[in-house]
Amino acid sequence: MKRVITPDRNRVLHPPQIPAEFLPRHIALVMDGNGRWAQERGMPRTQGHKRGEAVLLEVVDACLAMGIPYLSAYAFSTENWRRTPDEVRFLMGFNRDVLRRQREWLNERGVRVVWAGRRPRLWRSVLKELEKAEELTRDNTAMTLVMCVNYGGRAEIVDGVRSLAQQVASGKVRPEEISESMLSAYMYDPQMPDVDLFLRPSGEKRTSNFLLWQSAYAEMVYQDKLFPDFGPEDLFAAVEEYARRDRRFGGTK
Ligand code: IPE
Ligand code: IPE
Ligand code: MG
Repeated sequence: MKRVITPDRNRVLHPPQIPAEFLPRHIALVMDGNGRWAQERGMPRTQGHKRGEAVLLEVVDACLAMGIPYLSAYAFSTENWRRTPDEVRFLMGFNRDVLRRQREWLNERGVRVVWAGRRPRLWRSVLKELEKAEELTRDNTAMTLVMCVNYGGRAEIVDGVRSLAQQVASGKVRPEEISESMLSAYMYDPQMPDVDLFLRPSGEKRTSNFLLWQSAYAEMVYQDKLFPDFGPEDLFAAVEEYARRDRRFGGTK
C-alpha cells in the first residue's frame, strides 16, 4: 500500500511522428477490463484495478511524449454503484489512495489534475484527495488530466441543465438565449475541449455514459486488450488510427 508505483523510468517511448494538426487535442479513455483480467488469472477482481494504476501513469507519460493536452480517464461511473458493496468500497478507497500516492508525481510532470463528477454519494475522503490534487496542480500547463470519478454523462447534462434552469427561473437568462455554447459552460469542466478520440480497450463497444455531450463528433477507437495489459504502444496505435480518419463534421471535403 505504501509503495509508490510509477512507470519504468528507463523505458524509452517511441511516439509516432504525426503532424500536430492530426493529433487529438482530447482523448477520452475508458479504463475497462480490470475485472476480467484478474478473473482470467484466478485472482480477485480488485487485483485488476490495482494493475490499472501504473497503466494510467504510463498513458499520462505517453500523452506528454506526444504533446496531447487533454486526457479524461473514466475511473468510476455513476452506474458503478450497482456493483457489490465490497467492490464499491474497494474502488472508492483505491481512487483515494491513487490520488494521494500520485499527485506529487503528476505535479512534477506539470500535469494539471481536474475532477469531473457528481458530489452526492462520492466518499468525502475521495473528494478531499481530488480537491488536494486540483489545488496542488492548478497552475500546471504540460497537460490536463481529468479524473472522472462518480461521473455520468447524463448526470452531467442534467446537473448542467438544472443550474441553467435556475438562471432562467431567476430571470438572469432568457430561454431563447440558450445555445450549445452556453450549455457547454455548465458542464463539470467548462474548459474541456470536445473529445477527438474516444478510446476504449477491453473489447466492449459502447460509451457506457462517458462524456456524452463532449463526444458528439468523437472518433471511436475500440481495442481488445484489457486495461491492465494496455500500454503506450496501444495508445500510439489508437492515435495513428485517429490520424488516418477522415473527419467531416457533417460537411463535405
Ligand atoms: C473497469 O474495469 C474499472 C471500473 C469500472 C471501475 P471493470 O471492473 O469494469 O472490469 P470488467 O469490465 O468487469 O472486466
Ligand atoms: C465503464 O466501464 C466505467 C469505467 C471504466 C469507470 P463499466 O465496466 O462500468 O461499463 P459497462 O458495465 O461495461 O457498460
Ligand atoms: Mg467493465
